[in-house]
Amino acid sequence: MRTQVGIVGAGPAGLTLARLLELAGIETVVLEDRTREYVEHRIRAGVLEQGTVELLREAGVAGRLDREGIVHGGIHLQFEGERHHVPLAELTGGRAIVIYGQTEVVKDLIAARLESGLPLLFETPVESVDAEAGVIRHAGGEIECDVIAGCDGFHGVCRPSIPPGVLRTFERDYPFGWLGILAAVEPSIDELVYAHHPRGFALLSLRSPELSRYYVQCDPADDAADWPDDRVWAELRERTALDGWSLEEGPVLEKGVTGMRSFVAEPMQYGRLYLAGDAAHIVPPTGAKGLNLAVADARTLAEALVDRYAGDGRALDGYSDACLRRVWRAEHFSYWMTSMLHRNGDDPFEQRLQLSQLRYVTVSEAAATSLAENYVGLTTMG
Ligand code: FAD
Ligand code: DHB
Repeated sequence: MRTQVGIVGAGPAGLTLARLLELAGIETVVLEDRTREYVEHRIRAGVLEQGTVELLREAGVAGRLDREGIVHGGIHLQFEGERHHVPLAELTGGRAIVIYGQTEVVKDLIAARLESGLPLLFETPVESVDAEAGVIRHAGGEIECDVIAGCDGFHGVCRPSIPPGVLRTFERDYPFGWLGILAAVEPSIDELVYAHHPRGFALLSLRSPELSRYYVQCDPADDAADWPDDRVWAELRERTALDGWSLEEGPVLEKGVTGMRSFVAEPMQYGRLYLAGDAAHIVPPTGAKGLNLAVADARTLAEALVDRYAGDGRALDGYSDACLRRVWRAEHFSYWMTSMLHRNGDDPFEQRLQLSQLRYVTVSEAAATSLAENYVGLTTMG
């Protein structure tokens, strides 16, 4: 079997790339380890930058997103028992974020691909790739490709296929985890709340007018079983408590622990292989950048491939450099938000620094604008 671009992984990066290349008339095959059901129900991110929304619109897959996505023009930062509004749109010339689950983005992209009748092979784990020859190997055979897009996430096979000594990696682990719940209850908030609290960070988010998505900082070694529903609600109530406001509770539909890591592999390309999304970089979730970065890589790679098939390979040669500028901005922002908001042991010095920084962001328009333009992706969409 032969194709122009072989795409490993049907997450946001792989599916977005496949759609953009379809619209440009470039042939692709997408191979995915898991079932369609699994990929469509894996609960992860929920905040889309405006640039991500615009891209999905241009790609013709935003019909439901435009109907069901919830536009937010701000977020709240809470600390020392007070909630402060950060007016993202006002501070960034009208840019906003849209609340729409990653699960929904993935469902929309899969539906579009299947409607076009193009190859998307579920339950087809790629066993290895040959980055120099451009060959993808799976249990059912081999695919020869002009280019391989490694969109197979952090634990995929593409990045490890690059010979030793080529990649330089940068990594930081955090002693924090997030226990996340999806609850069948109307969200108690109008906009997201990022809360700093002596007991640890909490985040109030949502998925729809009927679905709340809430997180509490936990030990990264914790298991969901360590967090019965009562314990989750008690921590959420305490960490987000505010005079005159209360947190509505409801049935917990899903619960899980997410670890936190910063990771970048440079360069994001070798031979015929180009890495995109989590395959090349990971951010801690504070700041909601992971999904947006994956989509932005896909856009950069798609544009470079269009040039390449038109006879100009310069953008493809510069793919990694173009992505890494945006990646490192998001790495810094996510690290900064994470460090500012999480409880890190009992160090009172660090706690004072966190509170000082939070106060600064809420009283200084310059500091608030810096947070806002990073959050909405004004600088990171590059
Ligand atoms: P992925 O979504 O990981 O997709 C990779 C795909 O490749 C998967 O479908 C996988 O099954 C497939 N694959 C892997 N190996 C193979 C193989 N050998 N052969 C074929 N297919 C393969 N970001 C936020 O902004 N906010 C959040 O709250 C948030 N929560 C998260 C929770 C979890 C548990 C995780 C893991 C990530 C979370 N993220 C969050 C990050 C965000 O979801 C990711 O950045 C985003 O999914 C990246 O998209 P991707 O397409 O690069 O990778
Ligand atoms: C969500 C996740 C995030 O990491 C974040 O910063 C905001 C919202 C969410 O899942 O809704």
